[in-house]
Amino acid sequence: MSYLNFDDSKLSKFVHDNEVSEMQAMVNAADDELRNGTGAGSDFRDWLDLPTNYDQAEFARIKTAAQKINQDSKYLVTIGIGGSYLGAQMALDFLHNNFYTSGEDQTGAKVVFAGNSLSSTYLSQLIEMIGDDDFSINIISKSGTTTEPAVAFRVFKEILINKYGEDEANKRIYATTDANKGALKQEADANNWESFIIPDGVGGRFSVLTAVGLLPIATSGVDIDQLMKGAADAQHEYVSADLTKNEAYRYAALRNILYRKGFTTELLENYEPNMRSFSEWWKQLMGESEGKDQKGIYPSSANFTTDLHSLGQYIQEGLRNLFETVVKVDKPTEDVNIPYAEGNLDGLEYLQGKSLDWVNTKAYEGVVLAHTDGGVPVMTVHIPDQSAYTLGYLIYFFEIAVGISGYLNGINPFNQPGVEAYKTNMFGLLGKPGYEEIGKQLNDRI
Ligand code: PA5
Repeated sequence: MSYLNFDDSKLSKFVHDNEVSEMQAMVNAADDELRNGTGAGSDFRDWLDLPTNYDQAEFARIKTAAQKINQDSKYLVTIGIGGSYLGAQMALDFLHNNFYTSGEDQTGAKVVFAGNSLSSTYLSQLIEMIGDDDFSINIISKSGTTTEPAVAFRVFKEILINKYGEDEANKRIYATTDANKGALKQEADANNWESFIIPDGVGGRFSVLTAVGLLPIATSGVDIDQLMKGAADAQHEYVSADLTKNEAYRYAALRNILYRKGFTTELLENYEPNMRSFSEWWKQLMGESEGKDQKGIYPSSANFTTDLHSLGQYIQEGLRNLFETVVKVDKPTEDVNIPYAEGNLDGLEYLQGKSLDWVNTKAYEGVVLAHTDGGVPVMTVHIPDQSAYTLGYLIYFFEIAVGISGYLNGINPFNQPGVEAYKTNMFGLLGKPGYEEIGKQLNDRI
């Protein structure tokens, strides 16, 4: 059995064995496109061997920078959007206490995020929270020109310079950007900021295992060697194109079979509140990779058991276009025993002495069967725990799955042409030089 345990045993009502074997030839072709670069977007496949082929010297510099930040700062303001923040956010949530307050031993820097929206309230309140405390900035942007992070960076850079003066401020700015081009790279070089590289062949949504994710993750006290080791072991495991051997490919094939039957929305589900942002990372990975050419599975999410009390009704009895993929933690980080209560007024005596995680798992088992009976296909990826090693493994599982899945659906999984449309309109409306005519036309339509 593999380290992660992919369970598709509840799909028999929806997918027949022969349908999976019929997919094998298509999977072989998709595997060739992915591994040999014969498919569209082949320049963006460097994440495939990233866990075993990365810049060791830069990796060491990341650790040194994390140590320095933990010594001289109470906050690391991590500025980025999309692929330039979702991976770090999900790793921090997944790997830390639900009430995470700061780096290792509660003495280091707390990682906070900015530049992932245009909310003036959020930015003002973050500045208020930091107050007079020491802080550093990690600006993360491959292009260096994305509006949301660029605005937040301008604001925080000014505060940093006013607080520390230019020389010290320059020692507190860490830039993660393109190796050679882009506005941020020029500014970083001109000011001697410690800078890290987003490799050319790694798109934003695949970049969590580069400095993009690793600097904030290391700053929060996580063992990034373990994270990379998990991903490296997954890289070795998910090499076969054979659907009976490669569970990530099997997951990709099954979701495509379901999609063709009209199950067009996939819900990623968890039973741990600190896995909510894992779903946000996964939604970008899946949605930006697959939603193009007027097709693609719509990635959504639900957090259980919480959302069984809000979305549960819809999932059980609403429009039958949903399927579910659960990421279930088999061994919780902590457990609690349900205590004795005098008089049994709450009627919970039958649970007395049982562990809360046992109850959570029974809820999961009951939900899978109820939803299956209600016409919703359910698959589960069982993960042993919420360690850094497991997270690295899981990241690679979904990355390799979406690469294959995209090619199975006949699209380029590695571009994101649709992301530009809103930017063009926004620039027109904001009066950015070069966009005046677009702005005029849009203003006439508003
Ligand atoms: O995955 C992607 O390509 C996007 O989500 C980008 O990461 C996002 O738009 C931020 O871009 P940049 O890193 O250039 O600021």
